[in-house]
Amino acid sequence: MICLGIEGTAHTISIGIVEKVNNRCNILANISKMYKPEKGGIHPREAANHHVKFFPKVLRESIEKSEVNINDIDLVSFSIGPGLGPCLRTAATAARTLALSLKKPIVGVNHCIAHLEIGRALTKCEDPVLLYVSGGNTQVIAFMEGKYRVFGETLDIGIGNCLDKFGREIGLPFPSGPHIEKLAKKGKKYISLPYSVKGMDVAFSGILTACLHLLKKEKIEDICYSLQETCFCMLAEVAERAMAHTEKEEILLGGGVACNKRLQEIIRKMANERKAKFYCPPNEYLVDNGAMIAWTGLLMHESGIRMKLEETKVRQNYRTDEVEIKWR
Ligand code: ATP
Ligand code: FE2
Repeated sequence: MICLGIEGTAHTISIGIVEKVNNRCNILANISKMYKPEKGGIHPREAANHHVKFFPKVLRESIEKSEVNINDIDLVSFSIGPGLGPCLRTAATAARTLALSLKKPIVGVNHCIAHLEIGRALTKCEDPVLLYVSGGNTQVIAFMEGKYRVFGETLDIGIGNCLDKFGREIGLPFPSGPHIEKLAKKGKKYISLPYSVKGMDVAFSGILTACLHLLKKEKIEDICYSLQETCFCMLAEVAERAMAHTEKEEILLGGGVACNKRLQEIIRKMANERKAKFYCPPNEYLVDNGAMIAWTGLLMHESGIRMKLEETKVRQNYRTDEVEIKWR
């Protein structure tokens, strides 16, 4: 079976084409185009316009790369939520149009679960705790009693959003995460910041405010270093607690912030100390990508899940634990 998946929850429009061969995920194409705001944060309508503009090109390139005939596609999947309304609706409209014109079934995929499923498919992990860290999302997810459940999450902004907002204030380009990572490497002094773990949850806006207050007093490299160390240790703490609670022995990373080498190092160390295994897919599949939507759509379809066109309405606040999991 070949599935074409469309991702479009936020700033990235991406199309993945995947095939299941010998029970494994074979990625035939994964083509992405990212919207970068000229100034300020993401404007949902502008991001959606960007997706409309680039969809035909991304589609053409993905078909060419995959070397499949478009008529050989068996299934169309798309990111149904959670995400920004205008962006979600754009991806959904494109998916419906494609499914109708190809006369193929359509299935809407939960974006957060797709991050986890692509990680399971591309690494050797089987039943991990996922630390999902992106711009808009920060969640600790694991499979338990028939569902993917959220064991901890941010109480305010996503970790990536915190990094991007700080970066914007100090004049770094968007997305700022990779630039902050570079600056942090040169930092030497740890400046105490409001470490905020509340039970299984984390919060970042207090840390962001504290960092902004330090701007004229401390070196930028030291602030970036302290920002990363504080936020990443908080994430390690809640991820570790979820592993202890669920008695799982694998930790998997997902989301764009997981590209950060220092975060990977901290989480790997935590896993080693508990004799657990650490997994992290390649960067291309950590950030938002169409392949993860295609693969999860394929798993859903094979497990018997079907959606009528009327059921493909987007769900901006789609919760991870609302999803019916038939494929595990
Ligand atoms: P979602 O819709 O799931 O919230 P997203 O739209 O934020 O995802 P992603 O591609 O998963 O998209 O993640 C983008 C985020 O990752 C940005 O906030 C960016 O700053 C951050 N990021 C990317 N690379 C790094 C890095 N090396 N270090 C830290 N953060 C990074
Ligand atoms: Fe994402």
